Formats: sequence, C-alpha cells, structure tokens
Amino acid sequence: MDDLVQIVESAKADFAVAEQPAALEDAKARYLGKSGSLTALMRGLGALSPEEKRTRGQAINRAKAEVEAALNARREALAEMAMQKKLAAEAIDVSLPGRTLARGGVHPVIRTWMRIEEIFGSIGFDVADGPEIESDWFSFTALNNPPNHPARSMQDTFYVDRCDGTGMQLPLRPHTSPMQVRYAQTHQPPIKVIAPGRTYRVDSDATHSPMFHQVEGLWIDENISFSDLKGVYTDFLRRFFETDDLKVRFRPSYFPFTEPSVEVDMAFTTGPKKGRWLEISGAGEVHPNVVRNYGLDPEKYIGFAFGSGLERLTMLRYGIDDLRLFFEGDLRFLRQFNE
Ligand code: PHE
Repeated sequence: MDDLVQIVESAKADFAVAEQPAALEDAKARYLGKSGSLTALMRGLGALSPEEKRTRGQAINRAKAEVEAALNARREALAEMAMQKKLAAEAIDVSLPGRTLARGGVHPVIRTWMRIEEIFGSIGFDVADGPEIESDWFSFTALNNPPNHPARSMQDTFYVDRCDGTGMQLPLRPHTSPMQVRYAQTHQPPIKVIAPGRTYRVDSDATHSPMFHQVEGLWIDENISFSDLKGVYTDFLRRFFETDDLKVRFRPSYFPFTEPSVEVDMAFTTGPKKGRWLEISGAGEVHPNVVRNYGLDPEKYIGFAFGSGLERLTMLRYGIDDLRLFFEGDLRFLRQFNE
C-alpha cells in the first residue's frame, strides 16, 4: 500500500508546483498517462490472483481517484489564478479623472474687448467688424492719406501678395480706421459705432507686437464736437478702470484723417502708477475729406473718431509691463484671468 500512498503524495506535490496548465498536464502524464506510474500498476494486476486483483485494483482505483481529484482542483486553481491576473491587468480605475475636454478661458485682451463693447453699447454705440486684409484705399487713401504722402510712413505696414496674377499687394490693416469708412458708407447718420479688431504693423518689442488689437470709435452727426470726444472718452476710461481717480489729457498731434488731432494720455491720481502719463489712444475731429469719402457732406456732418490699443488698456488695467506675455500662450499667465 505504501507505494500507492507515496504515488498519491508525489502527484499532489508535483501538481502543487505546476504554475502553468502545460506543466500540470505534463505532471498528470507522469501518473495517469499511458506510461504513467498508476497506469503501470494497473497493467501489473494481470499477474495477480483474482482475490488480490480485486483488493489491489480497488486500492489503485482509489489512489487514481485521489490523484484525479487533486489534478482537477489544481486545474481549477490555475484557471482561477489566470482569471484573476487577467482581471487585474484589465482593471479600470474608476477613481481616475475622465478624459474630459479642458475648459478654455477668456484671454485678457478679449476680456478688455468685451468690456469695451459693453461700455460703448450702453451709450448707444453699434459694434462693427471688417476685413484684416484691407485695400490700400480703405487703409490709407480714403483716410486722407494719398499714395506717396509722407504720413504713410507713420505705420510700417505688412503686405500680402494678391493671387490674381497682377503682382499687386494688399495691406494687412495697420489700424482699425478703415472701418470708419466701411461703416459710414453703409449706414446713415447719426453714426455711432465702435470697431474692435486685429491690426498689424512691422513692430516688435516689450510694448509693440506685429499683431495687436485696436478699437476704433466713430460718432458722426450734425454737431458732434471735440468736447463730446472729451466727455465720451473720459467717461469711458472711468468706467473701464472702475475709478474716478484718473486724469485725461488731450495732447496735440497729427493724423491725416483728423483735424484737430490728439493723442489721449491718462494718468492715475492714486495707486502705485500715480502721476505717470501713458498714451492710450489717437483721436480727433474727422477731417472733411474723410467725411466726403464716407459719402456724406462735410458741411453738414461732423464728429469725432478715436483709435485705442486694447493691449495698452489691458496692461494698464492689470499692471502688466510686457505685452509679449499676451501672445506667448503661457497658461500660468493666462489662468490668472480666469479664476
Ligand atoms: N488710426 C490711428 C492709429 O492707429 C489712431 C486714430 C484713430 C487717430 C482715429 C485718430 C482717429 O494710430
């Protein structure tokens, strides 16, 4: 009997160390296979007497049943282990944040743009938009700035090639002033409009960028004077900066399309930047030649226009001293405006 007990123990031990189904089946063959040890014992029964054959046969069958039970248990265990391993590998961590769309924020310059639309909208100004690739006529000539006039060199302009075989070029608008003419040609006075948008000049340093934003303002009616410009613009600045603690100065200047022309400067009367004058806009009463190009009679219609830099206004509002920050796309900078 001892040999059977030994065989069973040895089989159980072999099955227990089999880590893979293939190794287990190899181990099985050593006991139950054609040349397995239990199979050999069965074959040996033929040489025994009928009596011995019965008891020995029963004993071998019990041993065989025990080995088979151990085999099946190990098979199940291996299958279970394989399943657990697979589940672990394919596990979904439900606590991981999902792949959502990242939420964007409003760019500080666009925030300024929106504020300006809101402030001017509240006093009856319409908002207009127009092309960034402009014609020479709208960009300069219509604004009383004819070809070869030295005032054209006030702005270093980008040009794009026309693709119509003429070899001609079109300017990227160097200011939003073309919108004065585009809007006035298609609307009847009283004309009250702002036109915010992108503008382009060959310029790049801490306070200039080749692409920047301006807002054009235009109010034309039968008697819109320079004092209206002063009132409207000063009130706009107070509302934009949310303070009455600022001074505004209209300093004589020159633009071909306004007469008289001014640069608008402002200074805070309190706070860290107190007393420092900063230029924020060009402005003036629209030149009669330009009113004529609107398609209106300059004897009857008069008014003011201004063109202000949105980056400048944004820098002043938030105390930013390098304009390039607006265009570098650094999220650490941009996120501060969207918390
Ligand atoms: N277009 C001028 C500029 O870009 C600004 C301006 C606009 C001046 C309207 C007067 C009137 O410098």
